[in-house]
Amino acid sequence: MSQTWWRGAAIYQVYLRSFADGNGDGAGDLAGLRSRLPYLKDLGIDAIWLNPWYPSPMADGGYDVADYRGIEPVFGTLDEAERFIEEAHELDIKVIIDVVPNHSSTESAWFKEALADPAARDRFWFADEPLNDWQSIFGGPAWTQVPDGQWYLHLFAPEQPDFNWANPEVHREFEDVLRFWFDRGVDGFRIDSAALLFKSDTRYEDLDEVHDVYRRWREVAGEYGERVLIGEVWLPDQERFALYLRPDEMHTAFNFDFLSCAWDPADLRRSIDLTLATHTPIGAPPTWVLSNHDVTRPVTRYGRADTTFAHGGALHGTPSDLELGYRRARAAALLAMALPGSVYVYQGEELGLPEVEDLPDEVRQDPMHARSGGTNPGRDGCRIPLPWSGDEPPFGFGTGTPWLPQPESWRKLTAEAQRTDLGSMLNLYRTALGLRRELLGDGTLTWLPLGEQVLAFTRDSGLTSVTNLGTDPVPLPAGKVVLSSGPLEDGRLPSDTTVWLTEL
Ligand code: NOJ
Repeated sequence: MSQTWWRGAAIYQVYLRSFADGNGDGAGDLAGLRSRLPYLKDLGIDAIWLNPWYPSPMADGGYDVADYRGIEPVFGTLDEAERFIEEAHELDIKVIIDVVPNHSSTESAWFKEALADPAARDRFWFADEPLNDWQSIFGGPAWTQVPDGQWYLHLFAPEQPDFNWANPEVHREFEDVLRFWFDRGVDGFRIDSAALLFKSDTRYEDLDEVHDVYRRWREVAGEYGERVLIGEVWLPDQERFALYLRPDEMHTAFNFDFLSCAWDPADLRRSIDLTLATHTPIGAPPTWVLSNHDVTRPVTRYGRADTTFAHGGALHGTPSDLELGYRRARAAALLAMALPGSVYVYQGEELGLPEVEDLPDEVRQDPMHARSGGTNPGRDGCRIPLPWSGDEPPFGFGTGTPWLPQPESWRKLTAEAQRTDLGSMLNLYRTALGLRRELLGDGTLTWLPLGEQVLAFTRDSGLTSVTNLGTDPVPLPAGKVVLSSGPLEDGRLPSDTTVWLTEL
């Protein structure tokens, strides 16, 4: 793979706890992932991004990291992680892991030391009283009191104390953590909450000092050859967003504007144009993301009257026409994969899984649910263990009871059931990722004027992608149809369908 493999890569997101369980304890693990590497190879992805695999009390699904240089025992061992990296590399699959620099865990050695010794508190934000009235992003106050009376800051759950990035020791620690994993062969990092590291008296988002951190990290990555830094940067201001992607900072960042966009031709065109206008001048490749472990699954979202995504769960449980959502999710997948840059596939997206919205409250584990007093359902519904095979739960996920219950109806959606069905979502993704590898990825696009309801563009290779977001079928431009997200109607492209064409 080329030095700049990340510019056009298809990156598959593995939420380890829900991917595949190798030891029968009901939680996904490295053994399960390793056993499923052939599935991922066959799917046609270039890289895997794993959510945090570090030792963690799991107060926030592993984003409460107790030790940045280890592996959570539920997931396996460091030795297994190293073997997994080797095995992925043998299959020509890159490995990207999560790094969580904004906050740690109350179970980390540094925080325990801080609790035991008030003189060792400068690595976090401790004060005699809350310095402001900030609310935690998960709900409730962002300051928690410790037994001796002081308070500490946590932008997320109380189990996730924020680091003090004004302390040089924190900088040194994270550079060392990056090296620890680069030395073990990882090809890059997904940087969690990347814009939140620094705090002023009044703000915690997007302070200018943060850029020095990523400049330094880019140097560290550069020492190892072409490794990649991918930012989780939720900033609506595209000019500010672009600063993170300057040539000496991160390589790419998730496109949350596209992810949150309604299934609407004008909105999507606006988002695509904005993305290209943001990235092209700085030479950074755009990314195209439809879902991840924090957001509503597209099949459910696109079946609603309001097809946007917004945090807070306001749309949770509102009616969704899942057949319509499924059809649109297929069309959206081909659209996203045809656009120039890299694309992300969140596990289960390739199976067309819907959001599970009817989980009983007592099984919900996401702190968003409890901390919002139940008003926000949280993100468990997009984290249900994958259905691999068979007719009933646990659907080949493992031999134990999965840590979140799977719906009975998923028997039709197992990877096994979809493998032999040529019209399945799984086969659509496989075929599309294969064509994408040859004909798409990094580069530019040229819009084709096929009307306001239609998003049509041609890529450098000559492949044309056409998506009909209107209600009536539309004629296709000249070309040979190589893939379609749904059947054509008398040679015309029906509503909510994407087709890929090559030159005749
Ligand atoms: C973003 C992660 O994607 C999310 O799952 C997590 O809860 C927060 N950052 C805090 O780490």
